Amino acid sequence: MKEKVEQIISQLQEDIKNVKTTQDVVDIKAKYIGKSGLITDLMKNMKDYSPEERKEIGQIVNVAKNEATELIGTKEEEINKAILNEKLEKEAIDISLPATEIATGAPSILEKVIEDFEDVFMSMGYDVVDGPELEEDRYNFELLGLPKGHPARDAQDTFYVKGDELLLRSHTSPVQARVMTSKNGDEPVRIICPGKAYRRDDDDATHSHQFTQIEGLIVDKDIKLSDLKGTVTVICKRLFGEDTVTRFRPSYYQFTEPSVEMDISCFNCKGKGCNICKNTGWITIGGAGVVHYDVLKGCGYDPNKWSGFAFGFGAERCAMLKYGINDIRTFYNVDLRESKVFDRKEEQ
Ligand code: PHE
Repeated sequence: MKEKVEQIISQLQEDIKNVKTTQDVVDIKAKYIGKSGLITDLMKNMKDYSPEERKEIGQIVNVAKNEATELIGTKEEEINKAILNEKLEKEAIDISLPATEIATGAPSILEKVIEDFEDVFMSMGYDVVDGPELEEDRYNFELLGLPKGHPARDAQDTFYVKGDELLLRSHTSPVQARVMTSKNGDEPVRIICPGKAYRRDDDDATHSHQFTQIEGLIVDKDIKLSDLKGTVTVICKRLFGEDTVTRFRPSYYQFTEPSVEMDISCFNCKGKGCNICKNTGWITIGGAGVVHYDVLKGCGYDPNKWSGFAFGFGAERCAMLKYGINDIRTFYNVDLRESKVFDRKEEQ
């Protein structure tokens, strides 16, 4: 029996040399230690032996089985390791390869300009305030010196929603009226109100029925036109570059007196004249003025004690100028590629 076992083991040692794949491992297991493997078979005719012989044979076969199991096990481990190594090598990631660009959203350029305005104003102590887009006639017009029937209302081609009382606000000035009337006439105000405004304009490259304004208001003691000039000049330098020069031209609004139109020196040609400034060297960016006596009074402030200034910038206009956009409709389509182009311009 011993000889037989030795012979099987040496046969196994030979066979194992040819084991290369996991299938070979399965086969060799079956051949030697499987249910009807060569070693397992040795136990089959045990009943023909005496109890002593059985014991001895049992021991020999067990030792052989352990040896075979170990031999095959070692080989199996070797093969598994080799397979794993090969796999690791194949799947290794080359971290020096350039990464594929992941498509992410980009901030809207209009949003960015509004945020820039907000940042600068907040750094000067202004609060950012919101108001309803569906507005009452009282706040949009009446409190701002435009009673019903006033001819200047026509200039703001308004969308009325319900009779002549509810409308889509035609500017963001009603937010200022709301804030002033909420203060009982005894608190200073320092706010900006960025937001959407609506007018019955035909949509073209420079007009849209919906647009964005950034209006601001300050009410305090001894506020003068020169304070407006100083504030706007600082803001424009911060937003359009330190070498920006501001210019104020006389204008007319019902809610401010005096009223002005605000220009900045063209940041493209620095005042020399180019197609952005239509060869004038100046670009108009909004309207402003000292808050009208009647507006302060109508909103609960004593105009003999309080004064203020108000201004309104067109957000799209500022963004168009800053980023060289020539069609206002660009802001309302959702093509991410355009935002990306502007992002790159910003980085340069
Ligand atoms: N509300 C004005 C407009 O929409 C702009 C403006 C605001 C003018 C504040 C003066 C003061 O045209």
